Amino acid sequence: MKKTMRLDKMLGNLGYGTRSGIKALVRQGAVAVNGVPAKDPGMQIDPAKDEVLLNGERIAYRDSVYVLLHKPAGYVSATEDLRDRTVLELLDEEMNVFSPFPVGRLDKDTEGLLLLTNDGKLAHELLSPRKHVPKTYRALVRGEVDETDAEAFGRGVELDDGYVTLPAQLRLLAAAKAGEPIAHPGMAEAAERTARVPALRGAELAAAVREGWTLSWIELTIHEGKFHQVKRMFQAVGKEVLYLRRVAMGPLVLDPALKPGDWRELTDEELTALREYRKEQKG
Ligand code: URA
Repeated sequence: MKKTMRLDKMLGNLGYGTRSGIKALVRQGAVAVNGVPAKDPGMQIDPAKDEVLLNGERIAYRDSVYVLLHKPAGYVSATEDLRDRTVLELLDEEMNVFSPFPVGRLDKDTEGLLLLTNDGKLAHELLSPRKHVPKTYRALVRGEVDETDAEAFGRGVELDDGYVTLPAQLRLLAAAKAGEPIAHPGMAEAAERTARVPALRGAELAAAVREGWTLSWIELTIHEGKFHQVKRMFQAVGKEVLYLRRVAMGPLVLDPALKPGDWRELTDEELTALREYRKEQKG
């Protein structure tokens, strides 16, 4: 694999300007390579070994980026869309120069953990149906989720297209009968958000409460990723998901410090955990 690249391409990839802007910086003597002012913006450098300074500051190069986003409702998990806002619009220009893309999809109205990267190999492995990477969701469900549902999900349920899901782990975290205050803090926060955020289903939540339905706050871990899978699994047992949030994927968990719409790069620990996880999956 080629290790060297043009100096202007390296700086361009890192968001330091267009080719002509970088040419001007080089002409002004603002760029130095290994202590020597650069003269040719097209000079070949090895970004892993050569020291590049811009206005005296060291520029660290990297090829791959890994972003942990708390996806908010109202955005689609795509890089481009003619109608809707995409999750890339939540990142900034400095990150988007690396061309990250979402690893898998969350529905427009689903919130929670979304990994974005430009590491195609990692994305492919995490998404491979053969790897059965676990994904954990919390959901506000209209209806009374009980042990029968947990057993059915544990065996696998038949979706509307005849597909039978792999065994999944369902846990009831809390329930609230209509008129009862919601005591569970996580459930209360999800209900408050569902009622308040326009892209979420506040009207249905209000109807569920008005009509005297029990609401359930659940956690579900699935090991595959069919289209609308969680919503369709609940549909299969006669219930309806009103709010959905992904809280974990493989070894990654949703950072509680990230509010919907916030993002950060993975920490070294998270990246190591992801790499270890990949190794285990291969072994
Ligand atoms: N299952 C769904 O129904 N929707 C999602 O966004 C993710 C899983």
